[in-house]
Amino acid sequence: MQELQQILEQALAQFSVIDDEVELERVKARYLGKEGSLTGLLKGLGKLSAEERPAAGARINEVKQQIEDALQTRRDSIQQRALNAKLEAESLDVTLPGRNASTGGLHPVTRTLERIETLFNSIGFAVAEGPEIETDFYNFTALNIPEDHPARAMHDTFYIDDKHVLRTHTSPIQIRYMEAHMEKHRQQETMPDIRIIAPGRVYRVDSDATHSPMFHQVEGLWIGEKVSFADLKGVVQSFLQRFFESDDLQVRFRPSFFPFTEPSAEMDMSWKGGWLEIGGCGMVHPNVLKHVNIDSEKYIGFAFGLGVERLTMLRYGVNDLRLFFENDVQFLKQFS
Ligand code: PHE
Repeated sequence: MQELQQILEQALAQFSVIDDEVELERVKARYLGKEGSLTGLLKGLGKLSAEERPAAGARINEVKQQIEDALQTRRDSIQQRALNAKLEAESLDVTLPGRNASTGGLHPVTRTLERIETLFNSIGFAVAEGPEIETDFYNFTALNIPEDHPARAMHDTFYIDDKHVLRTHTSPIQIRYMEAHMEKHRQQETMPDIRIIAPGRVYRVDSDATHSPMFHQVEGLWIGEKVSFADLKGVVQSFLQRFFESDDLQVRFRPSFFPFTEPSAEMDMSWKGGWLEIGGCGMVHPNVLKHVNIDSEKYIGFAFGLGVERLTMLRYGVNDLRLFFENDVQFLKQFS
């Protein structure tokens, strides 16, 4: 039984240095497998006398149990170590600061458009819209723009086909709005209240620091029985004073020409001791009113068109219009 003690000690010593489960099972076979040393001893029991056999058998089984216990302990510790290593490798540091989902912001031109709408709404102007792909009729003809007008030339206007253009201004919305609203009133021979602004994208073949082939305008239109040039000045000036939060801001008109207004003017506003052009305007031409069946003997009104990028540049101090459309996040972030 000396041998049995040796086997036990050897087995325990071997198990204790194994770090791998497969290796452990392999070494286990040396003791408990078919050809294992302990199995050999059990087989040898038959050679012992009947008196010796029970004690020896019990002793061998006891050692067998001890070996199996040691195996299980070692197996558990190998598994535990593997689990710990895995947990360590996959660990989450819950104290790390979180990653914020970045939030977007409104484009500066959108901010300006919203501001314009709010200010004009407050003095009773509704907001009207129209298509960006416009017919030749609405963009030019109905606005009294003659066949040979330079604005109609290919080098100034993006043509979709013979009859369709990317609108070159928001003025066609004047026509669309008046048409739609006169229709309802024609039978009753009443006059709708026409007081709108029409913001939107417009397109021209033009590109430099102050011009982009796509830009925004806001059209204004007020038709009534006694609307005058003085009303035009009052509306535009009070709008600009509120837009720029400056009671001193002045507006001046310079005589100009547009086929759809008569008389026509360029509008300038006072800015840092000088004057800056901000749009065109005038009293709606009788031919335009005729196109939409409004009696120009009875009704009169003004229209104006403002450049939205220009207002945005002045408000935020941006010196290059192209920055608005390059989609550089560093630039845009400043406004959100
Ligand atoms: N539509 C003109 C332009 O784009 C501006 C304008 C609008 C002028 C309304 C007079 C009246 O240049």
